[in-house]
Amino acid sequence: GAIIVLAIIVAYLFGSLSSAVIICKLFGLPDPRVTGSKNPGATNVYRLGGKVPALLTLSFDVLKGMIPVWISYFLGIGPLFLGMIAVAACLGHIFPLYFQFRGGKAVATALGTMFPVAWEMALLLIATWLLVFRIGKVSSLAAIITVTLAPFYAYWIKPQYTVPTIMISILIIWRHQANISRLRHGSEQRIKRRH
Ligand code: G3P
Repeated sequence: GAIIVLAIIVAYLFGSLSSAVIICKLFGLPDPRVTGSKNPGATNVYRLGGKVPALLTLSFDVLKGMIPVWISYFLGIGPLFLGMIAVAACLGHIFPLYFQFRGGKAVATALGTMFPVAWEMALLLIATWLLVFRIGKVSSLAAIITVTLAPFYAYWIKPQYTVPTIMISILIIWRHQANISRLRHGSEQRIKRRH
């Protein structure tokens, strides 16, 4: 019992580390929460600073989801609670303790949580995102379509993770409300740098 509660708290604290805000500070870039799409994620960091800071943001956001789930898995925690630990990491990214609870959309962090327990699914999700992005060149659209398919992939490949996958998909789609309304009005930006 105690170890599971501890793992959930640690996952939330890991998720709370807003890579985008930290990396932008280190690179002398504007705060991603007030510039561009105002989202602290790799996509917006790309707009503000290009490939290197964006890839670093993506990597750290993936890792902070991956590490707590991996540790919990090695501690012998079962699938039901591993799923809750994954949800906690995503909630940390969305409502970060150290950043006034103003977080991101948890696309990269959610992906990270899948590698330790469902790497086949993680690869399929990456392939889906890349395919949709290649066609549409819009990061948010690629994310929305990918997370919509994720519960079906889970049911098919790792049925024990279907419920947490649905929870995370709902969280991510809910965080894309502004993107969805921009997509519907045709005003969502294709990926591009600001300068
Ligand atoms: O991962 C977030 C992405 O789906 C959308 O980011 O900055 O275009 O709102 P952004």
